[in-house]
Amino acid sequence: MVEDVVNYLNINQSGTYADCTIGYGGHAFHILKHLSTKGRLIGIDKDDEAIEYCKKSLFSTKSISLFKDSYHYLPDIIKESNIEKVDGIVLDLGLSSMQLDSTIRGFSFKIDSKLDMRFDSTQKLKAVDILNSYSTSDLANIIFNYGGEKRSRSIAKRIVSMRPIRTTFHLVEAIRLSTPPKMRDRTVARVFQSLRIKVNNELDILEKFLSSFYNCLSNGGRIIIISFHSLEDRLVKHAFKNLSIKNKIDIITKKPRVPSKEEQIKNSRCRSAKLRVAEKI
Ligand SMILES: C[S@@+](CC[C@H](N)C(=O)[O-])C[C@H]1O[C@@H](n2cnc3c(N)ncnc32)[C@H](O)[C@@H]1O
Repeated sequence: MVEDVVNYLNINQSGTYADCTIGYGGHAFHILKHLSTKGRLIGIDKDDEAIEYCKKSLFSTKSISLFKDSYHYLPDIIKESNIEKVDGIVLDLGLSSMQLDSTIRGFSFKIDSKLDMRFDSTQKLKAVDILNSYSTSDLANIIFNYGGEKRSRSIAKRIVSMRPIRTTFHLVEAIRLSTPPKMRDRTVARVFQSLRIKVNNELDILEKFLSSFYNCLSNGGRIIIISFHSLEDRLVKHAFKNLSIKNKIDIITKKPRVPSKEEQIKNSRCRSAKLRVAEKI
C-alpha cells in the first residue's frame, strides 16, 4: 500500500508532510524521495526504537524532524516546529513488523515473551498488570469490547484462576483451556488485540486525533489513514463523514481501499488493512 500512500498524498515537492506513525520509515522513505530540499517531513512515533532507527536511516536525507510522542499531539508538535499547517498527513495504525517479531515485547502469541505490549516503553501500564490485577468482569469487558470475542467471560475467568500470568505462552494456555479448538487461533489473536488496544489506549487516542487533525491541514491537503480492525475503521469513517457533511473535507475514497489478492499473498499481515483518504476543502 506504499504506492497508494504516495499517490494519494499528491506530493508537492516543497510541501510539508506529517507521517504520524513513522515506524521503521517505510512510508517516510518514499515520501522523502518526492520532496526537494525545500520540502519537510515531520515523523512521529511513540516507540523509541522506531525513532532511533529512523534517526540513523533517514536523517542523512533531506529535511526530516522526528518526535518521540503520541500522534494525537500533532497540533502541538507542528506549533513547536513553527509550522502553521501541513500539506498532508499519513496515519498507519497498528503495529510494525519489527514490533510483532520482537522476542521481548509480547505483541505476538507465536513468540514466548514477557507480557509487555507497550508501544511506549516509558509508560507504566503493561499487559501483565492488566492480566494480573483487573477484575474478571473488567477483563471480560476488555476482551469483548476491544477483541469482539464472544467467549470473553470464560476466558477472563480462566485467566484469573491461573494467576499470575507471566508470559505470552502462559496466556495462550489460559485461552486454550477456555475455548474449543475450532478457530482457536482467531480467538487468541482477538484476545491479544484487545489487550494491546487497552495497554496503549488506542481508541481514545485515535478519537482525539480525529477531532483535531483538521486544523493542522492546509486547504487541499490530504489525510490518509490505514486501519487494521473494524473498531478503528468505524471511527475514521464516521469522523470523515461528519466533516464531509459540514463541507470541510471531500472524501476521496468512497469505499476504503483494501489490499489486492496479490498484495495479501506477498504480505499476509496487510490483509485486514483499510485505507481511507480525505481532502480538506
Ligand atoms: C504499522 S506501524 C507503522 C509503519 C510505518 N508506516 C512504516 O512504513 O514503517 C505503526 C506504528 O505506529 C506507532 N504508534 C502506535 N500508536 C501510536 C501513537 N499513539 N502515537 C505515535 N505512534 C504510535 C507504533 O509504535 C508503530 O511504530
